[in-house]
Amino acid sequence: MTELDATEQALGETFAETMVGPDDVPPDPTDPLDRTRFPIDEWRLVEKHPDVSDLGTTETLFAVGNGYLGMRGNPEEGRPSEESGTYVNGFHETWQIQHAEGAYGFARVGQTIVNAPDAKVLKVYVDDEPLNLAHADLVDYERSLDFRSGLLRRRLVWRTPAGKKVQVHTTRLVSFAQRHLSVMTLDVTMLEGDAPIVISSQVINRQDGGDEYTADEEFDPRKAESLAHRVLEPQTQWCADGRILLGYRTAQSKLGIAVGVDHEMVTDNEWSAATSTEADQGKQVYRISAREGQTIHLEKLAAYHNGPSGVPVRELFDRCRRTLDRARIEGVEAVLDAQREWLEKYWANADVEVGSHPAEQQAIRWNLFQLAQASARAEVEGVPAKGVTGSGYSGHYFWDTEVYVLPFLTYTLPQAARSALRFRYLMLDAARRRAREMAQDGALFPWRTISGEEASAYYAAGTAQYHIDADISFALSKYVDATGDTDFLLEEGVDMLVETARMWADLGFFDEKGDGLFHIHSVTGPDEYTTVVNDNLFTNTMARFNLRRAAEVVQELKDRDGADYDRMVKRLELGPAETDFWLRCAEQMAIPYDDRFGVHPQDLHFLEREVWDLAATPLEKRPLLLHFHPLVLYRFQVLKQADVVLAMFLQGDQFTLAEKRANFEYYDPITTGDSSLSAVVQSIIAAEVGYSELALRYFHAGLFVDLDDRHGNTSDGVHVASTGGLWSALVNGFGGLRDHGGVISFDPRLPEPWPSLRWRMRLRQTRLTVTVTQDAIELAAEGPRVEVWVRGEQVAVPADDSVRVELTGHGPRIPGEVGDVPLIWGKPRDED
Ligand code: BGC
Repeated sequence: MTELDATEQALGETFAETMVGPDDVPPDPTDPLDRTRFPIDEWRLVEKHPDVSDLGTTETLFAVGNGYLGMRGNPEEGRPSEESGTYVNGFHETWQIQHAEGAYGFARVGQTIVNAPDAKVLKVYVDDEPLNLAHADLVDYERSLDFRSGLLRRRLVWRTPAGKKVQVHTTRLVSFAQRHLSVMTLDVTMLEGDAPIVISSQVINRQDGGDEYTADEEFDPRKAESLAHRVLEPQTQWCADGRILLGYRTAQSKLGIAVGVDHEMVTDNEWSAATSTEADQGKQVYRISAREGQTIHLEKLAAYHNGPSGVPVRELFDRCRRTLDRARIEGVEAVLDAQREWLEKYWANADVEVGSHPAEQQAIRWNLFQLAQASARAEVEGVPAKGVTGSGYSGHYFWDTEVYVLPFLTYTLPQAARSALRFRYLMLDAARRRAREMAQDGALFPWRTISGEEASAYYAAGTAQYHIDADISFALSKYVDATGDTDFLLEEGVDMLVETARMWADLGFFDEKGDGLFHIHSVTGPDEYTTVVNDNLFTNTMARFNLRRAAEVVQELKDRDGADYDRMVKRLELGPAETDFWLRCAEQMAIPYDDRFGVHPQDLHFLEREVWDLAATPLEKRPLLLHFHPLVLYRFQVLKQADVVLAMFLQGDQFTLAEKRANFEYYDPITTGDSSLSAVVQSIIAAEVGYSELALRYFHAGLFVDLDDRHGNTSDGVHVASTGGLWSALVNGFGGLRDHGGVISFDPRLPEPWPSLRWRMRLRQTRLTVTVTQDAIELAAEGPRVEVWVRGEQVAVPADDSVRVELTGHGPRIPGEVGDVPLIWGKPRDED
């Protein structure tokens, strides 16, 4: 048995332990997956037969990545595929945005993630017949994505057209430990008879053609633009003895990329190999005289390095060589071990367990695994809306990172949270320039971007979302509160807080002739179906937080260290009265409230609009954004996504429970959930105010956003914000965790059908394991003592010890759901 076989066997045994077959589990009405094709396994996503009808979806579901490099779940043979994709976070091309009617300050430069050269390809020919899953006669097939080993694995037995049986096993991983490295293996064994076998291992530039072409598609703003020009200009190629290196520079953005692959063949069969390169392709072709039972084992290592225009592609070649050399010396087994170790630590901090619900457990872990794949090694880049699993939203970074992903990272993988915040810090100069261009003081972060420049050509639902500044400040504050990383706060974070506070103080105004309050006009909140409004409640409450926190931190710095404070004052040219002014703006912030309805209007004029008749809107007209001109939508009370309700969560200490309930009841029936960022938030507030059944249904809607392709566009990539929001729905929604002002409190809302919920979270030096059952909450500390609150009582968890607090019930329970909206995410509610 080879070492690899041994590992495979060990992994196989672990699968057997966790595998729960479809017959072992009673049918679950909330489980939308076809369990004959995708059987339940708490630690893997498993596919029992391939299906070309949802190819794009499964390419996304089985993608592997580490936040830097991502490879879609395309078959090794390259075909069939909907989008054969490989992405290097932040590696993008630019293009001139042509506005039919331009205006000052409109974004001019588009940014689009590039499909990096594809190193996944390992074509297999037996008796000169290609293996192609679209029409192969498969005797056996299983594909799985393993959340503990981080391996994508495929095992199949193919009956060739000549009737010979061939076993083909492959694995693919993108390393968490070495972010530039991917490792693939291919094992081919003739089960019956001998045959000539050809294995063609390739690297293909698919961005500029490749061997698959996509047909023209209908317009969908959620997709990436396709670029009309040649994007990857070949710079240099090199090959020798199974190693291939290709280097490119993007035509407009002038960014460099190099990809290198290396091969090692192990077999007792006779074989020969030839290596070649062209501008857009590199090939390593093996010809093997395969004898029955003699396995052909091929290892393929791939390294990706990219750099800005100043870095010569030759230098990137050298970096690829070093990555490949290191992996070659250490060996594939060591890479597999490192991957396991990394994931073991990850799950020790990030796992969330729900008792006795294996289907939900599997889906939860798939979502949590996506969070690692999207962000773990993003480092100096942000977390794109689709991670590195697809080209949707052009690979851009949005507020998704700060509001949906950072809370999870802060409590489970704080190093990655710090990197994501530093990435914004590195954009601060661009944000300052943008503020000037938009006639504001301070800094205005772009609504969507890769490079730091605003890339949103549609300002109403883009640039106008000024709340991005407050979202960043908010995430930064939560990170610092939870980790105690004051170094980051005082050296870099403070600059972001000050510059964003300045922006708010300058953007709003005191209505001296009217109510004397501080108003913020002509902005868009999170809900993109209502734009350019006055006093958006979400924006104003978040801006208020931003202003207060900036003033507090400046004061903290002053009290702590005179020299650091002086340096900061000098660096930021902070005026003596600035913080007082910010506090005045915050105290006088206009927070609209409507006495007639007893709710907070989404903006000053929101309640004056006509209410959209969602019940009368047919299924074919959803999502609304694909069927109605924006102006039509803006005219109505109808929400793409939670807005006031999100403020009820993020700024929850600023509102009473009664206000939260009234707001939830008002907005829930007019919220379409056309954005995948909505369900998870609706779930959290539904749980808090007592709509427990509805909270669970919203949770399921979020849980299966991608696994059940609820928004019909999973093929464009994973909805990463939803995966992060799902963690929040579990921990904040059902677990009842809140962290206002650095105070950790719990008021759980465990769903009735769940016996328990357990999660881990890091609080400074302590790992806290929280277990909620129907009658208690148990808090176990590994590390120093922590103090928390449970339903209004202070609880000290001693160092390396645990405490149990009895619970009576799980908050108010309001049966049923709000209003009579019959549709939710393209499905009747009772089917959800
Ligand atoms: C949502 C935005 C989000 C973007 C990227 C849009 O559909 O409305 O809030 O930032 O998707 O995920």
